[in-house]
Amino acid sequence: MECVIRFVPAEREVRVPSGTSLLEAARLAGLPVARSCVGEATCARCGLQILAGGEALPPESEGERRVKQRNRIDAELRLACQLRLDRDLTVTAPYW
Ligand code: FES
Repeated sequence: MECVIRFVPAEREVRVPSGTSLLEAARLAGLPVARSCVGEATCARCGLQILAGGEALPPESEGERRVKQRNRIDAELRLACQLRLDRDLTVTAPYW
């Protein structure tokens, strides 16, 4: 199954296979995602806001919640390196 990921306000869209990380989808769209780890849920800088399609997303792990708290990242953001795509989403970051 493919997922359509729309990035705003950059107005870019990619189709990726289900199971692709949101971080990889952004990379394929040519968009930067802030981070200071290698996608191992230690920096929490890759938090992105899900604007649409995020209803009933798989819940975050306890580790994801802890790393966001430790780094004072908004609880509403999802870590792009950890979120595996299984549906269409619209996503934003303040720096796009
Ligand atoms: S890239 Fe560091 S937590 Fe996602």
